[in-house]
Amino acid sequence: MRAIVYTKYGSFDVLKLKKIPTPTPNDHEVLVKIHATTVTTAGLANVSGKPFIARIFSPHLGLRRPKTTILGVELAGEVTASGKDVTRFKVGDQIFAEPETGAFAEYICIPESGLLALKPADATYEEAAAGCDAFLTAMPFLRDAGGIKSGQRVLINGASASIGTAAVQIAKHFGAEVTGVCSTSNVELVKSLGADYVIEYTKEDFTRSGKTYDIIFDVVAKSSFSRCKRSLAEDGVYLCTFPTPGTLLPRPGKKKARFIATGLRPPADRLKDLQSLKELMEAGVIRTVIDRRYPMEKIAEAHRYVATGHKKGNVVITIIEGS
Ligand SMILES: NC(=O)c1ccc[n+]([C@@H]2O[C@H](COP(=O)([O-])OP(=O)(O)OC[C@H]3O[C@@H](n4cnc5c(N)ncnc54)[C@H](OP(=O)(O)O)[C@@H]3O)[C@@H](O)[C@H]2O)c1
Repeated sequence: MRAIVYTKYGSFDVLKLKKIPTPTPNDHEVLVKIHATTVTTAGLANVSGKPFIARIFSPHLGLRRPKTTILGVELAGEVTASGKDVTRFKVGDQIFAEPETGAFAEYICIPESGLLALKPADATYEEAAAGCDAFLTAMPFLRDAGGIKSGQRVLINGASASIGTAAVQIAKHFGAEVTGVCSTSNVELVKSLGADYVIEYTKEDFTRSGKTYDIIFDVVAKSSFSRCKRSLAEDGVYLCTFPTPGTLLPRPGKKKARFIATGLRPPADRLKDLQSLKELMEAGVIRTVIDRRYPMEKIAEAHRYVATGHKKGNVVITIIEGS
């Protein structure tokens, strides 16, 4: 099979398209023919191996070279073989999944107990693949760390980001009044996702508007708890995807700041959320936003684009054309 392999840290050009043996599933695994995967912003650091401290904490990174040679954390595809003890899936099932790594390839083996579910019926493989990571991040932030409730005022800073586009739709689904913060070119996109109000960060600083919110979800970590504090309601909560002293240190007062590493949540909880994403996509509550599509050969270019920090929603790697 073809796969994007990397054996050393460096610029995005260390990602090489190679032919390697197709894996064989063990008794508890399914073999998935991948149709589409994505390049995520969080995944960029794996290529450079920076910051260095990540090499100590990530099971996929070694101190001198990567331990895992195939990156890619979300995918959609078709089950083409299954181990003898597999009961949840059968050959021909269309699935979407968030493996820990290994999605930059034509095939992957995934344990049937892993983070995979039947693909939302009407979604394309590309749409399904691009939904996993954003939803599995935005949902626990808003629901678990934010305790979102109907009628609350919620601000999403970075509403055009991958996680932001999911967060706007999830917050609306919970019945919140949603304000999305984005640049001028993304106003229509953010409105189309259901945001009640849009603030253009290029024209206005939401922390100085005098308005307050029950939840401020700083998806792109461009603000801080101390800057947002005055924009939080009395018992409001500031959520940030990136750990900062403001989110890690205990604080006096009712206003809270929280960070969670969503990938470290219990696997059973994550699987439940993936299954609920299928239902929400089928019900038309959540849709994925795809900015650009690249073939496997242009994986380095796709990473360079994601690294600009200006993608709208998601960047897909199309493994099988017409997915
Ligand atoms: N904690 C966790 O468990 C977890 C899990 C997954 C990801 N993450 C992290 O979450 C972060 C967000 O990831 P993502 O993939 O959603 O981001 P992304 O899609 O790469 O963000 C790009 C978007 O951010 C917008 N943006 C840039 N500057 C902005 C600003 N000052 N104000 C508002 N919007 C701005 C850009 O719009 P313009 O082009 O208009 O500027 C663009 O649409 C990453 O740092 C990632 O590592 C954390």
